Amino acid sequence: MEILAHRGASGTAPENTIAAFKKALVDGCDGFEFDVQQTKDGEIVVFHDWTLERTSNGNGYLRDHTLEELKKLDVGSWFNDNFKGEKIPTLEETLNIIPDDKLINIELKEEHSIERGTEKKVLDIIKKYPTKNIIVSSFSHNLLKNLKELDNSIKVGILLECALVNLDLYIENLGFKIDAYHPGKSFLNKKDVDYLNSKGIDINVWTVNTTKDFNLLKDMGVTRVITNFPKEIRK
Ligand code: G3P
Ligand code: MG
Repeated sequence: MEILAHRGASGTAPENTIAAFKKALVDGCDGFEFDVQQTKDGEIVVFHDWTLERTSNGNGYLRDHTLEELKKLDVGSWFNDNFKGEKIPTLEETLNIIPDDKLINIELKEEHSIERGTEKKVLDIIKKYPTKNIIVSSFSHNLLKNLKELDNSIKVGILLECALVNLDLYIENLGFKIDAYHPGKSFLNKKDVDYLNSKGIDINVWTVNTTKDFNLLKDMGVTRVITNFPKEIRK
C-alpha cells in the first residue's frame, strides 16, 4: 500500500504549504494530495477552505481575491510560529518542488460545483508535467467529466463522502472512465473494494491517521491511504 500526504504532512506542518510538502518528502511519502481553487483573477492556487479565516490572516472567500492579494497572506502562523511567513503556493510552484517519481493527487475544488473553467486552467498547467503521475479528483464529478472531455488521457478519481447503494451502477453510468475511487474511510465496504479491484480501479482512502484504520484497510485490499501523518503511518 502506498502513502499519500494529505495537504502535505498536515499533521506536523501547516496544510497545503511548501513547508508541508517538503516535510512529507522528508517523512518518506509516496505521493501527495492537495486542494486547488481558482482566484478572482483566474490563477490556480493550493488552498483547502472556501474562506481564508481558518488557515490565514485574511478574510472572506478565496475566490474574491487576486493572486497578488493572496500572496500577501501568512498561512503558517495559525499552525505554529515556526511557520510564520508561509505563503499560499500556486499549483505550479507546488508541482515544481515534487520529484517526478511521486504520485500527485490534485483535488479540484469549486464551491457548488460552479463551472467557471477551473478544470481547463488546471489541465493547461498539469500538461507541462509528467501527467502519468497525476490523478485529478473532485467531489464535483461534473467537473471531472468536463476534464475528461477536454483530455481523455488525464487520470481522474471520484471523491465520495457517503456509501452508494449501487456503486457499480453509478460508475458504469458516469459517462466517462475513472482510474480511481476516493472514499472517506468510513464509507468503504468489502463488496465495493472487490468490485473496484476487479475493474482495475485504484482505491485511495482518506483520511487515515491511525494504525488501526491502516491495518483494516490493508486487509480489505485498498491501493493507497491519504494521511496527515506520513511518517507515523510509514512506521
Ligand atoms: O482528497 C481527500 C480529501 O482531502 C477530501 O476532503 O475536505 O479534506 O479536501 P477534503
Ligand atoms: Mg482534499
